[in-house]
Amino acid sequence: MYPKLIDLKTVSTPNLGSLSFFEANHDIPFPIKRIYYIHGVAKNIQRGAHAHKQLKQLLFCPYGSVKILMDDGHYKADVILDDPSKGLIITPCVWRDMLWLVENSVLCVAASDYYDEGDYIRDYNEFITWINR
Ligand code: TYD
Repeated sequence: MYPKLIDLKTVSTPNLGSLSFFEANHDIPFPIKRIYYIHGVAKNIQRGAHAHKQLKQLLFCPYGSVKILMDDGHYKADVILDDPSKGLIITPCVWRDMLWLVENSVLCVAASDYYDEGDYIRDYNEFITWINR
């Protein structure tokens, strides 16, 4: 499994807060075709329960705390995104769940491709078959 936690470049200004940024192809290893974000979620809600066949993603949490649980069919790992300057790169073929640790946390995703339901695997047994194909 190759999910990778990265430090997003961050510029801090005394008394004015911080600004974090990333650039496609420079700071993350793929072009970005889509940004989406999940918001308005209550504490302890879990979303996800899918893998992607091709899609690469950078997940980051600009507000709150979300636990990302990952499973590549062999190993499981989890990461808590609770700092706006942290990012998590998820490669294809990783089953993931996202657990909201703090109400109204915002989970943002920069994705390598447009939305395509055909790229999703939403059945865990199908996921295991896919990775062992
Ligand atoms: P989904 O990826 O299943 O969300 P989560 O993994 O957080 O539970 O997407 C939820 C719904 O939103 C699903 O009906 C597909 C739709 N959707 C789009 O139409 N475009 C998008 O870019 C995304 C990410 C989802």
